[in-house]
Amino acid sequence: MDIPSSPGKFKEKRTKWHKTLPKLTFWSILFCGVIYFLFFRTPSSFSSDARRSLRTYTYGGAAWENKVISSARVASKNGVSVLVTGAAGFVGSHVSIALKRRGDGVLGLDNFNDYYDPSLKRGRQALLERTGVFIVEGDINDAALLKKLFDIVPFTHVMHLAAQAGVRYAMQNPGSYVHSNIAGFVNLLEVCKAVDPQPAIVWASSSSVYGLNTKVPFSEKDRTDQPASLYAATKKAGEEIAHTYNHIYGLSLTGLRFFTVYGPWGRPDMAYFFFTKDILKGKPIPIFEAANHGTVARDFTYIDDIVRGCLGALDTAEKSTGSGGKKTGPAQLRVFNLGNTSPVPVNNLVTILEKLLKVKAKRNIMRLPRNGDVQFTHANISYAKKEFGYKPTTNLETGLKNFVRWYLNYYSAGKKADE
Ligand SMILES: NC(=O)c1ccc[n+]([C@@H]2O[C@H](COP(=O)([O-])OP(=O)(O)OC[C@H]3O[C@@H](n4cnc5c(N)ncnc54)[C@H](O)[C@@H]3O)[C@@H](O)[C@H]2O)c1
Ligand SMILES: *[C@@H]1O[C@H](CO)[C@@H](O)[C@H](O)[C@H]1NC(C)=O
Repeated sequence: MDIPSSPGKFKEKRTKWHKTLPKLTFWSILFCGVIYFLFFRTPSSFSSDARRSLRTYTYGGAAWENKVISSARVASKNGVSVLVTGAAGFVGSHVSIALKRRGDGVLGLDNFNDYYDPSLKRGRQALLERTGVFIVEGDINDAALLKKLFDIVPFTHVMHLAAQAGVRYAMQNPGSYVHSNIAGFVNLLEVCKAVDPQPAIVWASSSSVYGLNTKVPFSEKDRTDQPASLYAATKKAGEEIAHTYNHIYGLSLTGLRFFTVYGPWGRPDMAYFFFTKDILKGKPIPIFEAANHGTVARDFTYIDDIVRGCLGALDTAEKSTGSGGKKTGPAQLRVFNLGNTSPVPVNNLVTILEKLLKVKAKRNIMRLPRNGDVQFTHANISYAKKEFGYKPTTNLETGLKNFVRWYLNYYSAGKKADE
C-alpha cells in the first residue's frame, strides 16, 4: 500500500516506542487493521493517508448539494464560477471573499489539516460563511469528490491554492509536500482535463523556485533549476506538470509565484506572525543573517495586492481547449511573479513591529541555516503589470499595521496564539 504522506503538525511529535513485545504486537495488529480499512474505504486514486482518511469527510445528500449549488451560484452578469482549493487557508480565504463580493460563484475546498492551528482555518471558514461561501471539507487527492463537485457545478475556473506550504517543515514531513503539491495537483489536473467543459486553472507556485539564484530582481525567464528546499522543488515540479497538462490536454494554466505574502488572517508559521507573538511575550526572536553579516531580506507582499493579482490572472485566463479529455488546439500557459518589488531586511520588519506593538524586541542574531531559506528575494513584476495591470500599492508599514490590528483583536477575544 502506497502511503506517501501525512498532513503536517507544525510542531513535531515524537513517539516513544515502548519496549514491551505485547504492546508491539498490539500495534502491529492495529496497523494491519488500519491498512485493511483504508484499502476498502479510500476513494483516492493516488494516495491516502492513514490519519486523514480515518477522519470521515461526510459529503453528499440533498442538503449538502444545495449548499454547494447556492455557494457556486453566479450573481453578476459577467460572473464566473470558481472552485477555490485551500479556501480555508490564508490566501484562499481572502481570494474567495473577493470573488464572492464581486458577484462570482465560489465554492471552497479544504482538508483543514493541522499543519498550523486549525482553529484559525475554522475562523476563516466562519468569515466565508457570512459572505456566502461554503467550504467543502475534503482532500484534493479525492478524485471521486472532485468529479462529484464538477457534476454538480460546471466550474469555469479553478483557483488552486491548496498546498503544503512552509520551507523548513519539509525536513520534518517531506511526505506531506509530495501528497499535496505533487500527487494532489496531478489528481486535480486529471479531473480537470476529463470534465467537459474543461475549466481554466490559476494556481499558486512560489518565489522559492528561484532558489539559489543571485541575479536580482527575479524575472520569470530566469533559471529555476536550483531549488533550496523540497517545498521549492515541489512547486517547480508543479510548473513542469502544468506544462505537461497544457501540452497534452489543452488545459489553460497560469502559475503565480507569490513573494512572502502577509496580512490579517495570515499564517502562524511565518516570521512576521510568530515575531509578533514572541515580541508580545517578551521571548527572544531569531534574526538570521547571511555570511559576513549579510542582510536577509524579503519582498514582503500585502495580501490585498496578492488578491488583486490573483483576480487579474483569473480574468485574463483564456478558456481551455480540450474536450472529452483530448486537446483540440493550443492553450494558454503562463507564469507570473506576484511580489512587491521592494525587499525589506528582516531587521527593519522587526523595527516596524516594535513600533506598532510598543514593545522592544529581544533580537537573537543567528547565522542563516542551510535548510531552505534563501538570503534575498526581489520580484520583477513587469510581466504581470503588462498582462493585467498588476501594481502593488501597500508598503510594509501600512500592511503590518493592518496585520497587528487584526492580531491584537483576534487574540484578545479569548483565543490563544499557541497551538
Ligand atoms: N503565503 C505565502 O507567503 C506564500 C508564498 C508563496 C507561495 N504560496 C502558496 O500559496 C498558496 C496558499 O498559501 P497560504 O499561505 O494561504 O497557505 P495556507 O496553508 O494558509 O493555505 C493552504 C490551505 O490548503 C489546505 N490544504 C493543504 N493540503 C490540502 C489537500 N491535500 N487537500 C485539500 N486542502 C489542502 C490547507 O488546509 C490550507 O488551509 C499555497 O499553494 C502556497 O504554497 C504562499
Ligand atoms: C523585468 O522583466 C522583463 C520581462 O518581463 C524584462 O524585459 C526586464 O528587463 C526585467 N527588468 C529587470 C530590471 O531585470
